[in-house]
Amino acid sequence: MTNTANMTETDVERVNADLESKSAQEVLTWALETFHPGIAMAWSGAEDVAVVDMMLKINPDARVFTLDTGRLNPETYDVIDRVRKRYGCDVEVLFPQHDLVEAMVRSKGINLFYDSVDNRKECCGVRKVKPLRRMLHSLDAWVTGLRRDQAVTRTVLPRVEIDTAFGEIVKVNPIADWSHEQVWEYIKSNDVPYNDLHDRGYPSIGCAPCTRVVEAGEDIRAGRWWWENPETKECGLHLKQK
Ligand code: ADX
Ligand code: SF4
Repeated sequence: MTNTANMTETDVERVNADLESKSAQEVLTWALETFHPGIAMAWSGAEDVAVVDMMLKINPDARVFTLDTGRLNPETYDVIDRVRKRYGCDVEVLFPQHDLVEAMVRSKGINLFYDSVDNRKECCGVRKVKPLRRMLHSLDAWVTGLRRDQAVTRTVLPRVEIDTAFGEIVKVNPIADWSHEQVWEYIKSNDVPYNDLHDRGYPSIGCAPCTRVVEAGEDIRAGRWWWENPETKECGLHLKQK
């Protein structure tokens, strides 16, 4: 932890002010020049692939990782391999700890997440948050595909922040200000490989049992944990500890 340790909230405010009017590519160029190889993109296998494309065009050695929860759709595994082949890059795939998954499933069942918000958070904790914590522990900064227009929980989202939930690591959100339409314009015009589920009614993609098709007129994240209120729909990857 070198660069991060030197970045204070004041530094981050200054960087944010400098980058506010800059493009996503300029934000990524700054981030890669400052932190590579201590920086990696967290790619969910969904439309945040636009960021993967931008990063690898700026630096072909840029690092990309994905959290394989063990409950992803086959289409998500398929796009992970297509991206590897297309860019000739490693996608660093992280798995949950088998003993924790086994204990959780034994005591609460394999589909525990439908029973309560607490169970759902426990499953996300074991399958996503713990592996993310392990990865972030080895980095100075991480990059996400988060956008302000995705959810009520994301309306305040700086392009660069200190992620207090994961030990003061720098978090870079290069497309924080992009709309859903802008992301798709980028993917199509750059011929970026994307998850087949997007063409089958899934604007947002998470784990298979926790994501459903969205009906016309529904919110883009309506299919994620559809049985919960919008206010609880965060899995713990993107929470702030105050
Ligand atoms: S979630 O918190 O609701 O699951 P969402 O699917 O909107 O997140 O994705 C937001 C960002 O979180 C993605 O752009 C990506 O940076 C990160 N992310 C989410 N899921 C994963 C995953 N399985 N692996 C790596 N990064 C992920
Ligand atoms: Fe478990 Fe669903 Fe969270 Fe995936 S999204 S980790 S299956 S609760």
